[in-house]
Amino acid sequence: VPIPFLRPSPPKLSDLAAELQAIEASGVYSNYGPVNTRLEAALVAQLFGGQGGCLTVNNATTGLMLAIREAMGEPAETAPRRYALMPAFTFAATAQAALWAGLTPLLYDIDPESWLPSQAAEEALLRRHGQEIAVVVPYATFGNCLDLGHYDRLSQRHGVPVVLDAAASLGSLDAAGQGFGHGCRHAVVYSMHATKTFATAEAGLIYSACPERLARLRAMGNFGFAAPRIASLPGLNAKLSEVHALLALARLDGFEAIVERRATLAAAYRALLPGWGMQRPTGRRLAFQFMPVLLPEALAGARPALLARLAARGIGAAHYFSPHLAEQPYILTNSVVDDLTVTDRLSRRALSLPMADAMTEAEVAEVCDALLHEERRAA
Ligand SMILES: Cc1ncc(COP(=O)(O)O)c(C=O)c1O
Repeated sequence: VPIPFLRPSPPKLSDLAAELQAIEASGVYSNYGPVNTRLEAALVAQLFGGQGGCLTVNNATTGLMLAIREAMGEPAETAPRRYALMPAFTFAATAQAALWAGLTPLLYDIDPESWLPSQAAEEALLRRHGQEIAVVVPYATFGNCLDLGHYDRLSQRHGVPVVLDAAASLGSLDAAGQGFGHGCRHAVVYSMHATKTFATAEAGLIYSACPERLARLRAMGNFGFAAPRIASLPGLNAKLSEVHALLALARLDGFEAIVERRATLAAAYRALLPGWGMQRPTGRRLAFQFMPVLLPEALAGARPALLARLAARGIGAAHYFSPHLAEQPYILTNSVVDDLTVTDRLSRRALSLPMADAMTEAEVAEVCDALLHEERRAA
């Protein structure tokens, strides 16, 4: 039986016939409708301990575009700030969102253990380019928890706004056991794409504990309308449809068990691959979209062949984030690149292993058997 890399299993729309009929009867299909309003309240209550607010968006990429643009405020007429500081070890969407906001990504390195953005590099770049940096956009790598206190201090000390890319983090718990992002006054952007742990179809979420920021973002996501049909802010259409809000509402049911199940599978991977490079978790629990590991050196140079042999056994795998941002032509051409020693070293060894709500421990064992066989073969 094949083991695909991911098996997206969002709630079944076909099981939600009554709720879909209620949407049809209401005649409201979008525009922050009643299902969306229920969803936002339920997300705050269930994932953020009832503190702060949530704004849905139609995906995390538009969420990042809005949040970055909101953070920039009114650009100064003289010498506008031009850089968006972000790690090179992230998905293309982070850079694309900054580019849409008219900024130049300034790509920096990651921590070799947690794979989170390097705090030392952030400090150094802010000292060197201070007045040119419009926003810092750290990525919570693979659902690992960023240090929110660090970004508060950074933001205050350097007078620079922060937007957190937490695309894979819905379900992650910080060291205190709260949903990652809880209490954060910056904008924290999550994805609810079909392939994420919080699987819908296309959807995203912006969390902030700052109500004024969230109100601005809500207006910006609705064509910049702060008052009905009067554009007074930069805007686009980032609204989530009622049907997609319904999918997300249904995903909240049983979500805790799904995240726990995936954490159990991740623990099994760790136990069965002793000696393999793994990410050091910084929170109490990660929301595993897939299982990220580092190939042993002996296998790193032969990743395509390894993937082909896994595929021949019916095992799907991937390699996030390789290529990293500075290895993708459009992004490289339009970015400025800082030292990427750790990113380069890790990214060439990156291997992303299968994960799914319905995956079994036996399947994890089968994947690990295949990998250990490859390791012995290369030795
Ligand atoms: C780091 C990161 N940022 C942003 C996104 C964009 O999310 P979405 O697909 O919801 O637009 C992703 C999606 O995979 C991601 O991994």
